[in-house]
Amino acid sequence: MNQADAAQRLSELREQIRHHDYLYYVEARPEISDAEYDALMRELRELEAQFPELVSPDSPTQRVAGQPVETFRPVEHRVAMLSLDNATTPDQLREFEARIGRALPGARFTYVCEPKIDGLGVALLYEQGRFVRGATRGDGRVGEEITPNLKTIRSIPITLRDPLARARELEVRGEVFMPRADFEQLNRALGEAGEGTFANPRNAAAGAVRQKDPAVTARRPLDIFLYHVSAARELGFTTYWETLHALRESGFKTNPKTERCPTMDAVIDYCVRLEAERDALGYDADGAVIKVDSLEQQWRLGSTTHHPRWAIAFKFAARQATTVVQAMEVNVGKTGTLTPVAKLVPVPLAGVVISNVSLHNEDEIRRKDVRVGDTVLIERAGDVIPYVVQVVAAKRPPDSRPFVFPDRCPACGHPAARLPGEAYWRCLNTACPAQLKERLRHFGSRRAMDIEHLGEAVIEQLVDRKRVKDFADLYTLTVAEVAELERFAEKSAENLVTAIQASKTRGLARLLNALGIRMVGERVAALLAHQFGSMERLQQASLDELSDIRGIGPQIAQAVRKFFDDDTNTDVIRRLSEAGVDMTQPDFVAEGPRPLAGKTFVLTGTLASITREAARELTERLGGRVTSVVSKKTDYVVAGEAPGSKVDDARRLGVTVLDEAAFLALVGRR
Ligand code: IVH
Repeated sequence: MNQADAAQRLSELREQIRHHDYLYYVEARPEISDAEYDALMRELRELEAQFPELVSPDSPTQRVAGQPVETFRPVEHRVAMLSLDNATTPDQLREFEARIGRALPGARFTYVCEPKIDGLGVALLYEQGRFVRGATRGDGRVGEEITPNLKTIRSIPITLRDPLARARELEVRGEVFMPRADFEQLNRALGEAGEGTFANPRNAAAGAVRQKDPAVTARRPLDIFLYHVSAARELGFTTYWETLHALRESGFKTNPKTERCPTMDAVIDYCVRLEAERDALGYDADGAVIKVDSLEQQWRLGSTTHHPRWAIAFKFAARQATTVVQAMEVNVGKTGTLTPVAKLVPVPLAGVVISNVSLHNEDEIRRKDVRVGDTVLIERAGDVIPYVVQVVAAKRPPDSRPFVFPDRCPACGHPAARLPGEAYWRCLNTACPAQLKERLRHFGSRRAMDIEHLGEAVIEQLVDRKRVKDFADLYTLTVAEVAELERFAEKSAENLVTAIQASKTRGLARLLNALGIRMVGERVAALLAHQFGSMERLQQASLDELSDIRGIGPQIAQAVRKFFDDDTNTDVIRRLSEAGVDMTQPDFVAEGPRPLAGKTFVLTGTLASITREAARELTERLGGRVTSVVSKKTDYVVAGEAPGSKVDDARRLGVTVLDEAAFLALVGRR
């Protein structure tokens, strides 16, 4: 090949690779396989090796290039990178509208709303469509030059397409972030390699962006959303919305959750919806950003030294807080599991006050090295129970000592043990009163036998007085007996006894969950109940019969068999039955049709007429399988209200999306 031919082929290859990079990294809809892509890259590399004089800085091979640096060069931003004004309530958003209304009397405003990404602000400079410089925000006036690091981010285009390719000089701004799933994977890998982990995706992204060696940055899964074009009006745009379109067309990644809102009511609705969806976004967002759409209005409103007057951030409820560990205790679970708990100085977090946080097990405490007296960063995300993210090392008192896990049950004093291969210490005393109390509490809980008034104080007294030694004893309690307990009057005693009697008809699924069989929670209990229909049939099921059930592995089967092989357990069941506790499943259909056999479902969002759990039960009863991750093997994604990113995944992978009505029709409920 001569040089002219090589130049021609190089240019074709680069163009193709850029195109596929765009489809893959920006639009997430690749058109070729990884192998085909690799082949293009290989050809490009080989040809460039043959003709080194034809390597250009904007070649896709040059994304990871450049030597490690000692320090970053400071760059002065031509236009300061300002911060944002904040609102935390809808009223404050209305005040914002009133404020800009006063500044521009008679004006009507349209807004653009988008997620506020919890990442790092960066500015990218393009000259004649080529990426020439990238910088951090720094203090807003002066940032640091990190061009080689930013080049490694594949969703940042190195050369632009029209319309923005034509701009002589273009500065765009956006937020670099690390997707949550990638962050978790990275942390796992770092942990396994014995290296330090990051507290959150933001810190991980910040660390990656400020790496001295771009080769390290290249191995970190960074991504970016662009949200600002400096001097957009000079480029001929009249609205922000239009500018975003041009960004997208030119090859930049913009946030697909961006919406144009004609009124402040629509803005508020957007903020509420986005906050409800935040856990499904796939990346951390700490709020929404609301911007006046008209660039002329933006220009007339101007900025303070701190923030533009035409934009405001609506901050979501905070989910992280720091507080102090006052004590560390060990609780006894219903199967004797010892769970360490940190007692905290109470701290409000995302709408509730947190005063306890589970530390899970011995290894977890050791890994995070949590000690009494430590200041800890805690987080509570969505439905997730609060947890310790990390200890604030700088605030550790000098006299603190590592926590030593007790080798005796803190409740009964009996020896505890941690068996090989297990994460938990366990109290070995089957008669441990703390275990019994936990089992009774679980038995009466809302999703088990749902016994109202069976609170902790009653259980405590009944067990301590040895009046209740197992579940069956509950059903023999009389009003007179209960009335004698502390803090009980005739009326409340009657209420409790009535509630206990009422629990007899909860059905087999709830009863199985209530019994606290190892590895049998709500889901497995429902499976077993629907498979066998009665306690009698279940008790006779062999190990093979049990493990043949879809969703029940050999371990669960063994745990179930072991439970029923124990005479103490069968004795309790016999006495429960004699007391009149229903041992059958009311809606059991023996060997019903299984029209959904072999089909895999993912449920997402809120369904209006059926709970997520009931939808799962129904699907499984008809032979379908319910999983949580959308893949090519998924047959249907069932999307309720506010479904989040799983629907996007489904569309991308060509998986059928069903709305609620279509799902109900499929399972024969409509
Ligand atoms: S607009 C002049 N939009 O939040 C434009 N900022 O707290 C002002 N941020 O410095 C910024 N997501 O780094 C804008 N969708 C978004 C954003 C966003 C995150 C960051 C940005 C800014 C900081 C202010």
